[in-house]
Amino acid sequence: MNLTDRVAVITGGAGGIGAALARRFAAEGAAAVVVADLDAAGARAVAEEVGPVAHAVQLDVTAEEQVRALVADTERRYGRIDLFCANAGVATEAGLDATAADWDRAWRVNVLAHVHSTRAVLPGMLARGQGYLLHTCSAAGVLTAVGDAPYTATKHAAVGLAEWLAITYRDQGIRVSALCPQGVDTPMLAEGLAAGHLGARVIAASGAVLHPDQVADAVIAGLAEERFLILPHPEVANYARRRAEDPDGWQAGLRKLTRRLNP
Ligand SMILES: NC(=O)c1ccc[n+]([C@@H]2O[C@H](COP(=O)([O-])OP(=O)(O)OC[C@H]3O[C@@H](n4cnc5c(N)ncnc54)[C@H](O)[C@@H]3O)[C@@H](O)[C@H]2O)c1
Repeated sequence: MNLTDRVAVITGGAGGIGAALARRFAAEGAAAVVVADLDAAGARAVAEEVGPVAHAVQLDVTAEEQVRALVADTERRYGRIDLFCANAGVATEAGLDATAADWDRAWRVNVLAHVHSTRAVLPGMLARGQGYLLHTCSAAGVLTAVGDAPYTATKHAAVGLAEWLAITYRDQGIRVSALCPQGVDTPMLAEGLAAGHLGARVIAASGAVLHPDQVADAVIAGLAEERFLILPHPEVANYARRRAEDPDGWQAGLRKLTRRLNP
């Protein structure tokens, strides 16, 4: 898929990776870019920066009726949705001490929101025999986010759901990509680093911290190839291979890195 004349919706579009996708989709010639986020002012600022093809919507991705309304309104305005980017996500920086509220929020934002948006957008895509779902997961969904148990568990679930969708709907014209970056210089990682969280420091020590625009570059290339796994950090493919071939050795290496950073 290329973005020329496409109608795209991006959740979590007010900042970080979502805002970079919005800017890039417009630059690639998208017909419309809907910037949706809990943060209404942030979404409006991104839409204004992107220009007339963009418009901002405030929503909570965990509220299924709000997601349905976003999809219905976008289809009314533009006739269709070609690409739905389920990108909003939350980290907790908590281990087993994570509260029930942390687990619930991570599950609802990182996983269930992908179910809600897919359920809402799929009927129109299936009727047209085409459509693209881009689910922002994380390298944590194919590896592990040291220091964040809810993030690791829910991002693995998000990759699992995306793979299930890809296998189930591909023959009906639906393409699915799971975007799995490692460190990206966004408020999510910057706040973790500023607070000295172990997980953020492990990420920064495990490879390059990319600019969100570099993630957008990888997305454009991945969509063009209609590739399931989009890995802006090529080293993640090597880590995943090592993890699959030698899980015990992989875990020992990660423990060693963690001990070095957290003596
Ligand atoms: N930054 C990284 O290092 C990194 C690495 C891998 C994956 N990711 C993933 O990338 C995605 C984007 O994160 P980012 O790094 O740009 O972080 P970010 O915190 O800058 O952006 C996340 C956006 O999601 C929005 N959001 C959160 N909960 C929401 C809700 N309930 N409803 C609507 N919007 C909501 C926030 O307001 C925010 O604008 C997330 O899914 C994140 O898990 C980030």
